[in-house]
Amino acid sequence: MTSLTRRDLFRSSLAVSASALLPGSIQRAHALLARYPAPEAAGATVPRERLLFDFGWKFVLGHGSDPARDLGFGMGQGDFSKSGEFWFSTQKFDDSKWRDLNLPHDWAVELPFVRDEEQQSHGYKPLGRRYPETSIGWYRRTFDIPKADESRRIMIEFDGAFRSALVFLNGYFIGRNDNGYAPFRFDVSDFLRYGEKNYLVVRMDASFGDGWFYEGAGIYRHVWLTKTSAVHLAAWETDIRPTLKGAAASLSLGTVVRNESSQEVNCSVLWLVLDDSGKTVAKVVSPAKTIAADGSASFTANMSLANPALWSPESPSLYTAEVSVEPHSASLDLQRYDAERITFGVRDIKWDPDKGFFLNGKHVLIKGTCNHQDHAGVGAALPDRLQSFRIAVLKEMGGNAVRTSHNMPTPEWVEACDRLGMMMMCETRLMSSNAEGIEQLETMIKRYRNSPSIILWSMGNEEWTMMPQPQGVRVVDDMIKRSHELDPTRMCAAAVNASFETHFPEQLDVMGFNYNLKVHDKYHKNHPKQPSVGSETASTVSTRGIYETDTLRNWVSAYDLNHTAWSQLAEEWWKFYSAREWLSGGFAWTGFDYRGEPTPYGWPSINSQFGIVDMCGFPKDNFYYYKAWWGSEPVLHVFPHWNWEQRDGEPISVWVHSNLDSVELLLNGKSQGSQKVQPLTHLEWKVKYEPGVLEARGTKDGKVVLTEKRETAGEPEAIRLTPDRAEITADGEDVCVLRVEVLDKEGRPVPTAEVPILFKVTGKGVLIGVGNGDPNCQESDKEPKRSLFNGLAQVIVQSTRTSGTITVEAYTGDWPPPKLSPTQVQITTKEVELRPAVG
Ligand code: GAL
Repeated sequence: MTSLTRRDLFRSSLAVSASALLPGSIQRAHALLARYPAPEAAGATVPRERLLFDFGWKFVLGHGSDPARDLGFGMGQGDFSKSGEFWFSTQKFDDSKWRDLNLPHDWAVELPFVRDEEQQSHGYKPLGRRYPETSIGWYRRTFDIPKADESRRIMIEFDGAFRSALVFLNGYFIGRNDNGYAPFRFDVSDFLRYGEKNYLVVRMDASFGDGWFYEGAGIYRHVWLTKTSAVHLAAWETDIRPTLKGAAASLSLGTVVRNESSQEVNCSVLWLVLDDSGKTVAKVVSPAKTIAADGSASFTANMSLANPALWSPESPSLYTAEVSVEPHSASLDLQRYDAERITFGVRDIKWDPDKGFFLNGKHVLIKGTCNHQDHAGVGAALPDRLQSFRIAVLKEMGGNAVRTSHNMPTPEWVEACDRLGMMMMCETRLMSSNAEGIEQLETMIKRYRNSPSIILWSMGNEEWTMMPQPQGVRVVDDMIKRSHELDPTRMCAAAVNASFETHFPEQLDVMGFNYNLKVHDKYHKNHPKQPSVGSETASTVSTRGIYETDTLRNWVSAYDLNHTAWSQLAEEWWKFYSAREWLSGGFAWTGFDYRGEPTPYGWPSINSQFGIVDMCGFPKDNFYYYKAWWGSEPVLHVFPHWNWEQRDGEPISVWVHSNLDSVELLLNGKSQGSQKVQPLTHLEWKVKYEPGVLEARGTKDGKVVLTEKRETAGEPEAIRLTPDRAEITADGEDVCVLRVEVLDKEGRPVPTAEVPILFKVTGKGVLIGVGNGDPNCQESDKEPKRSLFNGLAQVIVQSTRTSGTITVEAYTGDWPPPKLSPTQVQITTKEVELRPAVG
């Protein structure tokens, strides 16, 4: 990776202020999220059971170099010498002193920050071989398995865990998984104690990282216990491939059935397709086959859908396929063996070397962002609702695509993209054709190939050592070949930042340009048959609510003025890409700020400042640049704030992002002049500061259609809490995201406030994290308190599994001032059918 020189990376800067998630955008996010259905049983249907295995775990930190502090694990030579002797996963072991928690869980976010430059990529968290005491985590769960399950196949499935998992059950070693992103599963049927208690232990070792960004630590994604009959659908083998032909879609269907019984079986596969409303719209049966004991067989079929509802970001219509394995001989009155539900969508994609990207026959510019996977307060352990909250923020900005940099995403991120309408470039972590690399790639493709949101597979990112070598060409060729075998419907790209003149980029179906705007035209001229996309662009840096770069305080002005040495401003890259249809659009680095890679500064910054929104999802001002030129609504955004005490008479740079015809700026009713909006360009005035009201009036077709004001706010008088939803579900998973701010006596938010606020959450919910979007804030993510940063903070509250009311109180302490009157809000938690879970 290009190494970052700290303070010298900049192009200028000036001035001051704050911006927030505007009430309108919160409302729109609500509406979007309301369309997101309550979590289902994640694809299971009778007789299969898929039980959420998230609740009721015990946890303790172990030790990476001292076995005595690591449950004695590795004390001598013999741990693995005989099967069944791992006592910590037997009833003899006492875990009563371990901590209680629910998954998903990230222990890294709970750790203190350490000033150690080696740890900056990981957000200055003490993880790694030099921090043995905080790099190992043990999880333990006791559970019952009924006697009646003895004839079933039982799997434990991890959606992803960081990192190097060792799994033990009832004294037996079950298996391991190294990488931190791909899902993994173990058939534990042979090791269970039927009709008795079972003891599951998972040792996670985060001593090695997978990437160069914050990755969390622990079981940060869901775990499942899946029970099937001995004859069952093989994992992730069901493949539904719709092809649009005129007004109809033909569906080519395929799956694999495993027979793990001791007798041969004769079965067929029944395919039902249900529309959005649950109505069956198509049905077909794959002809019966005989499957030998311990064998498996592939089943295929074709069907067609007349006038299917097409999936698109504007209208993300989905279908459900219910796939069931039926005994062939109905006369024997046997029950179906297994069934699963797969969500899919019908849409047509095409990458054209000259004209760019087409969705359902329509030219669509990719307005994308790259994103890592962590959020304020919770680190990498995001509740499902927070995944869709984040997608809603990016959609609100006008974004229509995300890139899962630089690893395969959590299933709920993909699901949120499918349901909310967000296209995706889906990337694997390890660019390699070694066994592990191919396994990760296969898992990613098989796991997600039915998701309509995915428009492109990415083989990897900036592999600068490999790309110019012959190995690089061979590796990427193998990966692409395997991808095409598993999914001939999608093209493959990689994110390329060097070696443009070598054979490496020529292997890609779609060229992914990272930065390097100087090479694009020449490359395209030399490779006229290869479609392209901006796999990574921008890397603009800014601090929310700051309008004057201050290198001593690690602040970067939020005017669109600063970027790293290898990148561009928002306005620069988007103008460049908009002028070249063949580039298909691109993915800005990044949508959200993220922990680690503390660019452009180092310590005490603990996160990056690349985000268009901060760690909480509060917009920085560039959000409105993108909204103006990516979105479809009229936009008028004026900044900075208008609280410039002691700067009377000084010129303040006032910017407006708008897509209207012209904008007039007024200060205390006096016109500062009108300016015509030039496409893809901001407007700028220099205004002599005097307190009062700064007003922008936006005109379209000769009429003022939007006005926006910035008023000088007074001292903080009151606290305001704004929940993103008044009602959430009482399932122990759903979350409410609250915005915290302080108001002056006129009720105006104070945009510069840094007030420390304390919180108390009572009733049917718990506080699971706090944040404020300050890249330099080293306050705890988990304690019930947070200072506002430029007027804002965020509290995330999770429901319990009992319905009722959650009360969130916010107040200030005795010191430091100001002392503000407390406030509180109530959130209703509504009873819902819980998704089936391990008891
Ligand atoms: C890119 C890299 C990203 C991130 C970014 C920062 O080169 O792919 O992961 O490090 O730089 O600008």
